[in-house]
Amino acid sequence: MQITFLGHASLFISTGGKKLLIDPFITGNEKAKDRIKVQDLHPDYILVTHAHQDHILDVEEIAGRSGAVIISNYEIATRFEDKGLKAHPMNHGGSWTFDFGNLKYVNAIHTSSFPDGSYGGQPGGFVLSSEGKHLYIAGDTALTMDMKLIPLFVKLDLAVLPIGDNFTMGAGDAVIASDFIGCNKVLGYHYDTFGYIEIDHQNARKIFSDAGKELILLGIGETLEV
Ligand code: NI
Ligand code: MN
Repeated sequence: MQITFLGHASLFISTGGKKLLIDPFITGNEKAKDRIKVQDLHPDYILVTHAHQDHILDVEEIAGRSGAVIISNYEIATRFEDKGLKAHPMNHGGSWTFDFGNLKYVNAIHTSSFPDGSYGGQPGGFVLSSEGKHLYIAGDTALTMDMKLIPLFVKLDLAVLPIGDNFTMGAGDAVIASDFIGCNKVLGYHYDTFGYIEIDHQNARKIFSDAGKELILLGIGETLEV
């Protein structure tokens, strides 16, 4: 499984012979828009954790062009289906086996309105199981006790956790989250994109290493093999 960081909370994952794009926010991201060419992304699926602009901005354009199936909560999936796009609706606690592997939609503590203020369902994260590996993509979330459920489902190989603070967990809470989910290897995301979530990388890495854990911070366009 290969995971490429596209900036903010956007990821591109190649696994099970398929391409998955997560929460595409590229054309509106000053840090990513000149480095990642949206027109070069040809995903088979687009996973959307919640309806906020910094997670859905490029969904419509990319899905319309590539024919990708949008996987998200019921409200978000239905909204995109109404625009003529392909979608697979899920809801919390449910899992489904796709041709690339299995996804479970799990809880996140956050909000999920569309940019126009309309209801975007409840926010979530995904547990992806594919090629014998298990990956948790937390989405925007606070530290929550529900994370303790995840090791009852799978033994994670990697967790993608928000570490930017202010709108989500910061690095300190993410260390506790990593205990809750039983995974010491964390890819940080949702940081540095704008002023509210700028972090000190060295300090964030130290908070993890002091706890005997690994925090991976990828440059935009960098790839990690799991
Ligand atoms: Ni959000
Ligand atoms: Mn966000």
